[in-house]
Amino acid sequence: MKLTLIGTGYVGLVTGACFAEVGHNVLCVDNNKDKVAQLKAGKIPIFEPGLEDLVKNNVAAGRLAFTDSTAEGVAHGEVIFIAVPTPPQPDGSVDLTYIEAVAREIAQQLQPGQYRVIVDKSTVPVKTGEKVTETINRYSAEGCIFDVVSNPEFLREGCAIADLMQPDRIVIGSRSQRATDLMKAIYEPFHAPTYITDINSAELIKHAANSFLALKISYINAVAAICEASGANVDEVADGMGADKRIGRAFLNAGLGYGGSCFPKDIKAFIHIADELGTPFHLLKEVEKINAGQLDRFLQKIKNKLWVLKNKTFGVLGLAFKGDTDDVRSSVAIELCRRLLAEGASLRVTDPQALEKAQTELGHDPRITYCANPEEVFDRVEAVILATEWKQFRNLPWKQLKDKMIAPLIFDGRNLLDHHSLREMGYDYTGIGRP
Ligand SMILES: NC(=O)c1ccc[n+]([C@@H]2O[C@H](COP(=O)([O-])OP(=O)(O)OC[C@H]3O[C@@H](n4cnc5c(N)ncnc54)[C@H](O)[C@@H]3O)[C@@H](O)[C@H]2O)c1
Repeated sequence: MKLTLIGTGYVGLVTGACFAEVGHNVLCVDNNKDKVAQLKAGKIPIFEPGLEDLVKNNVAAGRLAFTDSTAEGVAHGEVIFIAVPTPPQPDGSVDLTYIEAVAREIAQQLQPGQYRVIVDKSTVPVKTGEKVTETINRYSAEGCIFDVVSNPEFLREGCAIADLMQPDRIVIGSRSQRATDLMKAIYEPFHAPTYITDINSAELIKHAANSFLALKISYINAVAAICEASGANVDEVADGMGADKRIGRAFLNAGLGYGGSCFPKDIKAFIHIADELGTPFHLLKEVEKINAGQLDRFLQKIKNKLWVLKNKTFGVLGLAFKGDTDDVRSSVAIELCRRLLAEGASLRVTDPQALEKAQTELGHDPRITYCANPEEVFDRVEAVILATEWKQFRNLPWKQLKDKMIAPLIFDGRNLLDHHSLREMGYDYTGIGRP
């Protein structure tokens, strides 16, 4: 089937490549001309495992192409997916200007008599589908036939291709049988359980799901604080809890809390929508509070050991918001660096993929040394802080690295490292909720 993706970022590019992989003919549109030029030249603007090969193979097979023209996109795909940003506004509500702009651009390109399905894949507040429909009606010519569908995306950066190729479920919010049939045909090759709902419910599923995952993270972080106060071990508590199938072990890892381009903004948005609808979601406000407190508590632990942070140098392992991605948007690791700098500290930082993007975020502060090799982070530092759960940090030559440090202090913000063996090596190890 001929498909168009408008917005060729993490979601649009990976989804477009996976649709092409199963045989669809995909045109990805982006209004960032540099990005489109890069993609046309075979350069992938983001790091996502397996993406480069997937894109190259499908471009070579003639099933995947790129353009900066929405007009071309609307002419190409009978089904047009919107995958543009939905960033937060200062009051927590969603900035829907990107969605509105794309809806308007699509409307102006619709041809009378030509059927199109406009699918919202971006994460949006409930009732956005209604607004998109109104917008397209307002700006399109007489006689244009279209349906609006909500098809939220659940991919996780770092394993986005697997998530798209073998999804847990597909959610299709639609009130038109014609559009539903087309959507089912698009997803048929993925053999996934499919849930057909009304548009509002589909929109809500995404916000409710992300908020629930954030709630699990904050829940275990609150339990970790009780573990610290009582001498219990949060890893063991999480294993024991997670073995219950009704609970599940996933998202019960104590740490610095959630960050990234989705959870913080989606939770804020859900809280805002609930308030607006007159049904305040107090539980989620507490989830946010616990999450914000994680970094404060962690910094306090560092201060408890080192007293004054000013003029001290720290090694920081990991800058991406989580492992296996180069995405630093709302990364807790970046916020940690900012907080340490604000205390007057200097930093030696590294990340397997996100060093360049982190440099753009943190800038060229002379107090920051960007290290391509993680071992350089240990040179004459007062402490090393693990901020992102890249698995390879586990396998550093910890024994040798100890001697490079001023004092062998480790603060593990993700409970990633083997604290028993580090302590045996002579490190002073501090994790989260671990005795
Ligand atoms: N990143 C994730 O892991 C993830 C997962 C699920 C859902 N989502 C949601 O998907 C949406 C997109 O997220 P993302 O991470 O892919 O964002 P992104 O910033 O990586 O990509 C968005 C792209 O849209 C382009 N764009 C903006 N306006 C445009 C326009 N008018 N025409 C054409 N292109 C335009 C931008 O240039 C950019 O390349 C958001 O609503 C997000 O919440 C993201």
